[in-house]
Amino acid sequence: MAIPAQDIRRQIDRHLDEIGELEELSDARYHVTHERFERASNQRSLIIDWLRHVADATTFPTHRPTRMLSVGCGGGVMDQRITNVFAGYVDALTLAGVDPNPEHTRTFESLFADKGFAVNVFNGLFEDYRPGITFDVVHFVHCLYYFEHIGPELRSAAEMLAPGGIMIVLQAPNEDLNHLADRVWKKQFDQSAWYSDDVLAALEPLGLDTRMQRLAAHVDVTECFEAGNPAGVEILDFIVQAETQKFSPAFQARLRESLRAICHVHGNRLLAEHPVDAIVSRKSAPDLRSSTLPGRGGAR
Ligand SMILES: C[S@@+](CC[C@H](N)C(=O)[O-])C[C@H]1O[C@@H](n2cnc3c(N)ncnc32)[C@H](O)[C@@H]1O
Repeated sequence: MAIPAQDIRRQIDRHLDEIGELEELSDARYHVTHERFERASNQRSLIIDWLRHVADATTFPTHRPTRMLSVGCGGGVMDQRITNVFAGYVDALTLAGVDPNPEHTRTFESLFADKGFAVNVFNGLFEDYRPGITFDVVHFVHCLYYFEHIGPELRSAAEMLAPGGIMIVLQAPNEDLNHLADRVWKKQFDQSAWYSDDVLAALEPLGLDTRMQRLAAHVDVTECFEAGNPAGVEILDFIVQAETQKFSPAFQARLRESLRAICHVHGNRLLAEHPVDAIVSRKSAPDLRSSTLPGRGGAR
């Protein structure tokens, strides 16, 4: 008989209690496992479709290049797809990327070296970023989980928006796939990660027009259950956010059981739900029509 998911989770908690310090993924391991995980999911394609609708509903500057900021830009694979969407709507686009992981920023710079965009990269935390310019598009794609706090950072991103600019956040809801990472995060940092509810709460006081839509994606985790398959270990490491091969065989088995408990079978594949909440917040543009009405102001 299958063990109930709650019991497996209690066993995982006991394993976590038994180990002392739990290291984060190294920068290099994070870089490799992240791309492997994303390739196993259809989420990025759904995000790109959603972004086309966002771009359709946005007015971009015509007197200067559109300025885009990617926070937690990663290695640039997703940013290439994102910039390609927006490049289709504007005459010229400049791109700034911010990320503390040097493995990522190096790859990001080289990926964009010959793509025809003016690119500027800041290797450091967004908290320390002082661009001195405003942006028409600021996006946070799956990066706010790792921030120590998000209220001040989302406020400062809103202040970086040009009038009429948009802030985009792609953030997971706190659902089944995240429970493993969340347990590990609590162990590593003594705090839970931020999820989409937290983001919406932090955006609320900022006076932007905010909309949210859930995108129902899935990730193919079949390889996680193939003994000795390095791709499967990479996917599992990213889901758990730790180097699982350093754990005891019993603990590794519990992690796989726990993942298996949230999968559904599709043909010969095992899929786990991988939803993301797609959030767009718009800063209002000045109403140029009313400010140029003849006689306005003279009567006051
Ligand atoms: C899951 S990756 C997402 C990368 C990219 N946006 C994408 O979708 O492919 C999260 C990224 O957030 C970055 N990150 C974590 N904390 C950060 C911070 N305080 N400021 C900026 N970036 C941060 C990490 O280094 C990592 O590259």
